Amino acid sequence: MGKLRLAVLISGRGSNLQALITACAQADFPAEIALVISNKAAAPGLQLATAAGIATRVFDHTAYASRSDFDRHITRAMEEIGTELVCLAGFMRLLSDEFCDHWRDRMINIHPSLLPAFKGLDVQQAALDAGVRFAGCTVHYVRKEMDTGPILVQAVVPIGPDDTADSLAQRILAEEHRIYPLAVRLIADGRVSIKDERAVISGHEAPTGQLINPPAGA
Ligand code: GRF
Repeated sequence: MGKLRLAVLISGRGSNLQALITACAQADFPAEIALVISNKAAAPGLQLATAAGIATRVFDHTAYASRSDFDRHITRAMEEIGTELVCLAGFMRLLSDEFCDHWRDRMINIHPSLLPAFKGLDVQQAALDAGVRFAGCTVHYVRKEMDTGPILVQAVVPIGPDDTADSLAQRILAEEHRIYPLAVRLIADGRVSIKDERAVISGHEAPTGQLINPPAGA
């Protein structure tokens, strides 16, 4: 069976893109990156793609008359290369409703919180401000409302009393790099279906045990 063809959309650093590049470099990984798109020519992630021999395209959103026009051009570029799954990886543009409809159930995103808590930006600081004991990250299918959609994979990161937004972001990012390739693998292996707006994973077995923070007895 052929590998699932991905398009990865970025705006910046590209560390999640790199995690996907690294995963896709394994011979037995069931997906391949066909194209990387950025809305910013200066996005450092573009160099990562080029270094890995992956085609890149830049669509500068300021050059388009409307959001829909911009989105249509991106859709065409992705369709030209036979994209089967769109992976948003730090793509800092809101997407039009048409775009979300067109790629419905074929587009996923990674977000640095345990959704549905803490949508939007600066979510690590928001978690610290709220005083929650656990943060984390989520890979989810994309719907029109920002940071909503069926959840595929989450990872939990305990918060310590000395954490800052930066220290927390770093630990969350390390987990992002693990769960994004995992989510892509689940989809590429054909294990995911969407029922009643929930992502159902065949053969899903939850890990046992529990995390308590601060630890019981501490
Ligand atoms: C990540 O924190 C991701 O969760 C969020 O944007 C950031 C992108 O980082 N959507 P990078 O460009 O992948 O390093």
